[in-house]
Amino acid sequence: MNKNVYVLGLGHIGLPIAAWIALAGYQVVGIDIDKNKIDDILHNKVKIHEYFNGIHISRLVYDLIGNQQIIISDHIKRLDREPAIFIITVGINPINDSEHDLSSLQYSLDMLIPLLVKDDLIIFKTTMIPGTCEEYIAPQLIGKNVMLAYCPETIAETRAFIELNKNPHILAAADNKSWQAAADFYRSLSPAPIIAASNFRIAELAKVVQNVIRDVNVALANELAELAGMLNVDNQELRELVNTHPRVELLRSGPGVGGYCLPNALGYLQATIKETDKFKLALSELARQINLTRPDKVLEVLRRALAENGKQLENATVAVLGLAMKDYCADTRLSPALEIIRLLTESGVRIKAYDPLVEDGCEYQVQSLPYCLDGADAVIICALQEGMEKSLQEMAYYLSPPLIIIDTRDAIKTCEGVILYRV
Ligand SMILES: NC(=O)c1ccc[n+]([C@@H]2O[C@H](COP(=O)([O-])OP(=O)(O)OC[C@H]3O[C@@H](n4cnc5c(N)ncnc54)[C@H](O)[C@@H]3O)[C@@H](O)[C@H]2O)c1
Repeated sequence: MNKNVYVLGLGHIGLPIAAWIALAGYQVVGIDIDKNKIDDILHNKVKIHEYFNGIHISRLVYDLIGNQQIIISDHIKRLDREPAIFIITVGINPINDSEHDLSSLQYSLDMLIPLLVKDDLIIFKTTMIPGTCEEYIAPQLIGKNVMLAYCPETIAETRAFIELNKNPHILAAADNKSWQAAADFYRSLSPAPIIAASNFRIAELAKVVQNVIRDVNVALANELAELAGMLNVDNQELRELVNTHPRVELLRSGPGVGGYCLPNALGYLQATIKETDKFKLALSELARQINLTRPDKVLEVLRRALAENGKQLENATVAVLGLAMKDYCADTRLSPALEIIRLLTESGVRIKAYDPLVEDGCEYQVQSLPYCLDGADAVIICALQEGMEKSLQEMAYYLSPPLIIIDTRDAIKTCEGVILYRV
């Protein structure tokens, strides 16, 4: 327990992890190269939507800083020369379909390597292109006398403090000593099981495969939702009936798949395949394509819904509810709602958008639900936020008939007076 813990990257994953480790009694140093992020953290202005025992992460971290349990900085400086633990949470961004940007990883290593002392433990949390730890990271640490482990992160945004203590931790390491040290550290933080992976590559692959599976399952739900629409069958009821089978889970359909992890997962797998392998991830690629084209489908349904009710898309005013990439969160990275808004703009539609959790989501954003709904020819539900479900039932009050609602989240029950379209 006398170890200092340095967390590199204070984003959606790194900040909750830094707080979680500080709450366990470690002295934490949190480092992020984004000065605006540091400023937000230091001034209690963090926007990510995480709560610990009812306390918002912004306040929690602010108080931990006040108590000197976390030190926040835009550069790394060791507190002492005793062996320490370094947690790396920076991401790997796609450059295009076949190339990825490893510069954040490299920059972290460049900052870290000159400071390392014997028996430091470095734990990477980054979702990796399989092979990265073994081929890219480990060689740079040869001869440094440090321990290296990989423990991919599986927490879902908005559930960080629950899932950090609950989700099993897959753990791979360079050798037994590194594995034991990382496992001891994790045991001191969380009662969740620690699952030994036999090498880095399989742990990296397991993490990416988890993401691809969700992407494929959502694509299936999306495809079947479309079929249900064509057959004039209620998709929500269909899902409830299907899921009565104990070994079947049909996920909820949606307007597409956003966020940092799922849309990038297929590219991480593709990056492991050489041209000479003559192998294609046909099913996963098709699933990705289905999910990517969902916003176009939403537009198609909107056009049809308006036409069926004597209106034209080009002259319409549309209320877009929910800008986040999924329900109940503040993250808009690769959010399908933003893509839908882009398509609506291209079609000349007048837009009002509302999301109580997202700040500066888009230029059409308004600050109240009634104002967003007022005068709208149709409503598109792109993501739910707290309180919205209740308000949805009250929409009829704000909208003038015909009340056209396009429910992309399979979120509301059919109710009287509303012409409900599911996508
Ligand atoms: N967001 C999720 O729900 C989630 C879930 C599981 C795993 N992951 C994985 O966790 C990793 C991080 O994801 P995220 O959503 O937190 O990303 P994020 O963009 O929110 O955070 C990454 C942070 O790292 C900082 N950074 C970049 N280079 C740095 C450096 N050299 N030193 C210090 N800070 C640096 C960035 O400024 C940023 O604040 C990714 O690999 C992602 O795939 C994310």
